[in-house]
Amino acid sequence: MMKSIAVGLLGLGTVGSGVVTILKNHQDKLMHQVGCPIEVKKVLVQDVHKHRTVEIDPSFLTTNANEVIEDPEIDVVIEVMGGIEDTRQLVLQALRNKKHVVTANKDLMALYGPELLKVASENGCDLFYEASVAGGIPILRGLVDGFASDRIIKMMGIVNGTTNFILTKMSKFGSAYEEVLKEAQELGYAEADPTSDVEGLDAARKMAILASLGYSMNIELKDVRVQGISSVTSDDIEYSKRLGYVVKLIGTAHRKGEKVEVSVQPTLLPESHPLAGVNDEYNAVYVYGEAVGETMFYGPGAGSLPTATSIVSDLVAVMKNMRLGVNGLSSVSPQYEKKLKDDSEIFSKYFLRIHVKDQVGAFAKITSLFSERGVSFEKILQLPLKNKNVAEIVLVTHEASLRDYEEILVQLRDLQIIQEVKSSYRVEGGNQG
Ligand code: NAP
Ligand code: HSE
Repeated sequence: MMKSIAVGLLGLGTVGSGVVTILKNHQDKLMHQVGCPIEVKKVLVQDVHKHRTVEIDPSFLTTNANEVIEDPEIDVVIEVMGGIEDTRQLVLQALRNKKHVVTANKDLMALYGPELLKVASENGCDLFYEASVAGGIPILRGLVDGFASDRIIKMMGIVNGTTNFILTKMSKFGSAYEEVLKEAQELGYAEADPTSDVEGLDAARKMAILASLGYSMNIELKDVRVQGISSVTSDDIEYSKRLGYVVKLIGTAHRKGEKVEVSVQPTLLPESHPLAGVNDEYNAVYVYGEAVGETMFYGPGAGSLPTATSIVSDLVAVMKNMRLGVNGLSSVSPQYEKKLKDDSEIFSKYFLRIHVKDQVGAFAKITSLFSERGVSFEKILQLPLKNKNVAEIVLVTHEASLRDYEEILVQLRDLQIIQEVKSSYRVEGGNQG
């Protein structure tokens, strides 16, 4: 039997504790796959006296990161402490010290992935990050290995559990936004600062990672258009239902020819769409391949044990590479130069809810703005409001370019008959290619 593999952990919180549990409970299966025991040797924490949910020898705990990343006996560092700048320095130092790194840190990988992967490769080290997107779903390996023979056209993801939980509860039980957000925080789904969940930034980071891997292009966070769910109201959800749609926070990455678009935004999905039935805190990633057609990966996007399974599977991959002597070779640089679509090349249907002064000819003024740009309507609802002089109009357009649609919105807001544009969202539907 080979000597045991020594692992150092940076962090022993929700995910780190899960890693320790999986290593202990699944040791037999792991040993069978990698041919030797795996031992946790040192663990970086903030407070060595804090109560831990897992059994760990107190002498393994340290508040000195160097005891993990400078220890010559540690082969693999598992980064589950979170954070960006300080963590980046620790990961860089670990890689320069020839330690393989496994991380769950989407914030770090979305911002510094290319730099870290380059340093890993220069040092003959693996840097794996399966847990950084959709926690327990093996989506990154699914994209890279499972789709190795296909061209990915479209990816759509429910990649943030907090917002899916909130929208599900608002839709099923009519719960108030603030109340459900609090529940999501109590259940541990939300980030320490939930703004990054509800304003779409957490999902945007995950979509940048997915799009970079799926399209083999260096898609950066700044390339992702982001709109969160804080403006979604129960009225929007009710009208969407009446029109046959479900509202979800969807990350979309779409390729047409050589160009791609990546966004995160509240989106109306037809009830028949595979992602429409993904509820509560669950995540799913829908992938449309040119040859394979529709596929979907579904599962828990967060949580101690689900996230830890992805981390320990990465660890197994590192150890298999060690046995074959091929560490550091799997990180291939992007194949394509980044080419982003401009607004005239991004097409979608749109949902629009407006309050209009109830006057003769008001609707004609609205329709003429759309028809001047060749945009027609698929669905229309008009309802009286309590204020008898104002009507609520809900429209779903046929496909329009983003440029045309945004110009229409600007002109619409300027119309004297428009009291307020209440909401506007993308509507999914139609051709995947
Ligand atoms: P957590 O529960 O807050 O745990 C963080 C751990 O890191 C704690 O043990 C903490 O020490 C330690 N730590 C943090 N900052 C430190 C510092 N400056 N120096 C030393 N130790 C430090 O976080 P988590 O939920 O496990 O998340 C960890 C990472 O996994 C994050 O990048 C997160 O985005 C990612 N992730 C989490 C989930 C999830 O379901 N939670 C899912 C996917 C990805 P103490 O225990 O002493 O405070
Ligand atoms: N806050 C994240 C979510 C945790 O709600 O999905 C997993 O990354």
